[in-house]
Amino acid sequence: MKSNGSDLLKTKHLSKFFEGLKALNGVDIDVKEGKVTLIIGPNGSGKTTFINTVSGYYKADEGHVYFEGVEITNKPPHEIYRSGIVRTFQIPQPLKKLTVLENLLISVDNPGENIFHSITPSWNKFEEETVEKAFNVLEFLKIDHLWDSQASNLSGGQLKLLEIGRAMMTSAKLVIMDEPVAGVNPVLAESILERITDLKERGYTFLIVEHRLDLVLPYVDYIYVMANGEVIAKGVEEEIMNNKDVIEVYLGDTYRET
Ligand SMILES: Nc1ncnc2c1ncn2[C@@H]1O[C@H](COP(=O)(O)OP(=O)(O)O)[C@@H](O)[C@H]1O
Ligand SMILES: [Mg+2]
Repeated sequence: MKSNGSDLLKTKHLSKFFEGLKALNGVDIDVKEGKVTLIIGPNGSGKTTFINTVSGYYKADEGHVYFEGVEITNKPPHEIYRSGIVRTFQIPQPLKKLTVLENLLISVDNPGENIFHSITPSWNKFEEETVEKAFNVLEFLKIDHLWDSQASNLSGGQLKLLEIGRAMMTSAKLVIMDEPVAGVNPVLAESILERITDLKERGYTFLIVEHRLDLVLPYVDYIYVMANGEVIAKGVEEEIMNNKDVIEVYLGDTYRET
């Protein structure tokens, strides 16, 4: 396993405070290009806040975020998205009324926003290519048989695959996923994680928050552990699993629960 990739995403002393609560307190996290980086930690340790701050949904109070060496701290979400960071969201309710294919088509970076494109022949070509790309994505995710189903009819795991598909329709380099296999049956969870591994081979980088360590660990390259808004440990699986602090604040509980 190569572990000397360059940092695609880097945070330096990133902090986010909510009325005195240090939800993030000086967090340094590096996400290596072409790797799957996992963040774990107890509930309320700041994992989702980290994702929201990196992707521009929360404003940082201190510190810096760099993507491909360029500072993106506190840029608006759409600019961060355009630079190549996409975070998956649960498919919102209105989009669940659309079909699987339609969900992919509306995810694409859309040149039709420019009104002049829509009256030129290039628009048709764009549309054709987009549909073809969408079907390729669906085949890759092995949900092409569902192309015409309403998203509302998909299982939780199939929806997660659709979320990945929506990310693939964009020019994303870094895909950030909050709990990609939570609540998903183990078979579909393996399928999601295998697709993530395939995408890694195609050059995507992943940052994932997930509690289901039993499922995700085989697919993960590097792990950060957070507690109370701080990184308390980082390393590869063996280092983390044998770290006393980690066992005390997190792993002990996890294994008691399951
Ligand atoms: N928008 C918000 N307003 C106020 N407090 C928040 C907000 N978002 C998160 N927090 C608080 O920040 C802390 C970290 O939350 P979060 O990042 O969601 O943790 P995790 O994802 O690790 O479970 C928690 O104490 C939470 O209540
Ligand atoms: Mg969370």
